[in-house]
Amino acid sequence: MRFLFSDDVRRDPYPWYAELRRASPVLRDPRTGTWMVFDYHGVRRALDDHDAFGSDVSAAGYGNLGWFIFFDPPRHTKMRALISRAFTPRTVAGLEPRVREIARGLLDTTAGRDAFDVVGDFAVPLPLMVIAELLGAPADDWSRFRRWSDVILELALTLQGGAEAQHAVAAFTAVRAEMARYLAELLDVRRDAPRDDLLSRLLAAEVDGSRLSDGEILAFFQLLLLAGHETTTNLIGNAVISFAEHPEQLARLRADPTLLPSAVEEVLRYRSPVQAVFRVTRRDVTLGGHAIPARSLVLAMIGSANRDPSRFPAPDAFDVARAPNAHVAFGHGIHFCLGAPLSRLEARVALGELLARTETIALADDQPWEPRAAFHVHGATRLPIHVTPRSA
Ligand code: HEM
Repeated sequence: MRFLFSDDVRRDPYPWYAELRRASPVLRDPRTGTWMVFDYHGVRRALDDHDAFGSDVSAAGYGNLGWFIFFDPPRHTKMRALISRAFTPRTVAGLEPRVREIARGLLDTTAGRDAFDVVGDFAVPLPLMVIAELLGAPADDWSRFRRWSDVILELALTLQGGAEAQHAVAAFTAVRAEMARYLAELLDVRRDAPRDDLLSRLLAAEVDGSRLSDGEILAFFQLLLLAGHETTTNLIGNAVISFAEHPEQLARLRADPTLLPSAVEEVLRYRSPVQAVFRVTRRDVTLGGHAIPARSLVLAMIGSANRDPSRFPAPDAFDVARAPNAHVAFGHGIHFCLGAPLSRLEARVALGELLARTETIALADDQPWEPRAAFHVHGATRLPIHVTPRSA
């Protein structure tokens, strides 16, 4: 699986996926013993059959972050239920005016400029500010959250082993302590006077008759900060990359803005922000004719599944009006992304505002964009663009 760590492959893993899907859709990496699943059918099985494919990666010898995304039922069900009400489509719809206000405020800072970094100046702060406000942290602290998230993301490098892995773990330990101190202050204020935010709700919550520990609340805080922005940031950035690569599709969207929701779905499929999710076999499992032993780490390659020709006609075509579009970019089954309605809203608002203010958008760098430092996510670290502002 070393190929997944090269910059070129992370920018464009799709030719590799196509080859592997044809030749060996279920593949064991001899160096690490990790299994990878590349075809739609196999990925759906890994996502849906949670009795066979669990989420507790510590069972395969990896660190335990205490995030409920890595829990199995029944604990998973209970922890997810504590916060799920905050993310229902109806609750999220109520956030639209605030999301739009934040998006406009950020774009205002770029007004009059014919070039800016659409990732650093827009796609990073927008979702971070939104999730910070939902949690109950100051939105202005977003750049600190980005720094923390970057360190947490690099934990994925531990799959590679070696010096980089050791460095990633040491950096994470330091950031975890910094986050714990930061969170303790927010929790102290809320212990005295609860507010209408997720941290207050977690402080009051009970699971099996007991309150959550500070460590458990920290795990929620970390998971939501990271999941709440890395992915949506990449969705917005990947949309800009896809539009730049396919000007005729952007023209179609500009001519008919009602296509925006389906364009967002197509970016989710075509350049999936999350390329792989982690599973661990809970028993010996047969998949695609391979016998996978219990406690093996399995990567369900959703980025590849979303380009499987057996499921999507012309999978390598970017079509803003594609229908049906049953992608698995948000996963499937009991771990289906809790933030899907929120990220769809954020992407729709962000891209709608960006397109409304510009007549043209083009990538500004002649250099290829620099991919995020983890193989399981897909997006640019920074993305300078040239724009022609629309005259008012
Ligand atoms: C789970 C993708 C945005 C919170 C997931 C999973 C995927 C995913 C693939 C399944 C993980 C698995 O099966 O192991 C995405 C994408 C996003 C996005 C592509 C944006 C484009 C968000 C946002 C939030 C969020 C905005 C929070 C505010 C979560 C949480 C889970 C999750 C808490 C764990 C659910 C569980 O284990 O039950 N996401 N996500 N995500 N996502 Fe997202």
